Amino acid sequence: MTANDAQSQPWWKRGVIYHCYVRSFMDSNGDGVGDLPGLTSKLDVLRDGTPSSLGIEGLWLSPVYPSPNRDFGYDISDYSSIDPVYGTMEDFDRLMAGARARGIHLIMDLVVNHSSTEHPWFRQARTSRENPFHDYYLWSDGTNGKPPNNWGSTFGGSAWEWNEQTHEFYLHSFLKEQADLNWRNHRLREEIHDIMRFWMNRGVDGFRLDVANYYVKDAQLRDNAHEVVITQPMPGNPSKTLYIPMSREVYDHTVDQPETHDALREMRGVIDEKPGHMMVGEIAQRTQGQVLSYYGDGDSELNLVFNFFFFVRHFRAKDFRDIIQRTLDLLPEGAWPAWVLSNHDVVRAVSRYHCSPPMTKSMIGLLLTLKGTPFLYNGEELGLANTPLLRKLLQDPVGKRYWPLPVGRDGERTPMPWDDTANAGFTTGVPWLPVSAPAMSYSTESADPTSVLSFTRRLSWFRSHHSALNAGDMSIVAGPSDTCLCFTRTSSAEHMTITINLSDQTVAIPRGSFTSDQIPLFSTEEQPSMDSLAPWEVRIAAAPA
Ligand code: NOJ
Repeated sequence: MTANDAQSQPWWKRGVIYHCYVRSFMDSNGDGVGDLPGLTSKLDVLRDGTPSSLGIEGLWLSPVYPSPNRDFGYDISDYSSIDPVYGTMEDFDRLMAGARARGIHLIMDLVVNHSSTEHPWFRQARTSRENPFHDYYLWSDGTNGKPPNNWGSTFGGSAWEWNEQTHEFYLHSFLKEQADLNWRNHRLREEIHDIMRFWMNRGVDGFRLDVANYYVKDAQLRDNAHEVVITQPMPGNPSKTLYIPMSREVYDHTVDQPETHDALREMRGVIDEKPGHMMVGEIAQRTQGQVLSYYGDGDSELNLVFNFFFFVRHFRAKDFRDIIQRTLDLLPEGAWPAWVLSNHDVVRAVSRYHCSPPMTKSMIGLLLTLKGTPFLYNGEELGLANTPLLRKLLQDPVGKRYWPLPVGRDGERTPMPWDDTANAGFTTGVPWLPVSAPAMSYSTESADPTSVLSFTRRLSWFRSHHSALNAGDMSIVAGPSDTCLCFTRTSSAEHMTITINLSDQTVAIPRGSFTSDQIPLFSTEEQPSMDSLAPWEVRIAAAPA
């Protein structure tokens, strides 16, 4: 057995991690909002030990802590309990037990760049400069009644907000109701470590760290630079380009400060107190090299770092080949990649690339065959597209503020379609966001062996049974055409070649080419041809024994 093999892989390297936006997953009590009992009732869909479930290894929950919901859970007012809208701590324990029983590992969202301004820490902190919690946050007197610098909030406007009680500004990298925590305060760091231990002691297997590269800010509060960006994606049709010059902030003094790496190393120490635990980080606004630096020396900071570089405008073999190769080249020794196509903050990949179902399968085929941990966003397994929403139905603060450029994030957060009953079986009440037109659902796709869901389940099952795919090394090789992505995956037991035709054209496989003598083991096609790849075909093959 070598280090490449599945048995020696920790769970978070081995399997698919499912990103569940709890609010939109399944509502059990008719209030229109997804909740923990609803999610628990669907665990068999996620993993039941047979090929008819998704066979996930990990389940990441969007934030379920008490929150005033200015930013839908990313503004936490209590890190150690459950928001009543999602259920109780007993409901959480039941979810945990149900997940355990099925071999699913649970990951909580840890949002500690900022807390809600309703958090008791901030309520105290803002009352006086002498309050013991004052230093848990970032403050400045400003200059002549103005903020101390040009730092902007990611959600628009200045990142500084006036606090009348202490006559100072506080920093908020996002909404003014999300006050940034002071990571130079060691008592605060201890509090966060204790929060992690609290959930680990309750059975949680890991954390997804929200904007983990934002934690520490420049101590001298120096201005950020700005650059002019000429091209913008067209709202509603991101594959088209608008030419509008816009000034964009370069977050050189607000993200990636060296002390952030120290803080993450400390958190890693807490994670390592219990074997089998992990943290995966969201590293925002950075280049590929900067993002990968959050693995530390490969195994000293984050266990996994999301690779958001697939959020490009076009689903083209060349672009994806470059991104994958660059990732493999820049990845520190010992680090393991983490791939993402969609999440609750970006337009779903199916809408981004205007995917037909065969094209969607090629995308999922890629996600599940690359070396690394695939993160699957709920609905992606169905080929779900964004739901277009009328402005008056928007909930996301970003959409409300900026619509139509950008339209906001509600379109990728609409409820899961389960069946063809009212509200697609998500709720018996009024859903917090409209359910998309019931063109597809879990039940219709389950019944159709050619659906995206059936394909995803089949591939996930195949993946989990082949060490080449869930643990092997990877090399990109020349494919039969430029429109194909072709790579090998190799463990000590297996050697496989994956070829994905990222085009709507049939591609001939020339005799004597790399793949021509390989036997297909898995394909999107019922009868894969030895001479050609069908449009959008995903093929996993091996040399004859
Ligand atoms: C990233 C989260 O994914 C996003 O939903 C949130 O609005 C910001 N961080 C602020 O917490």
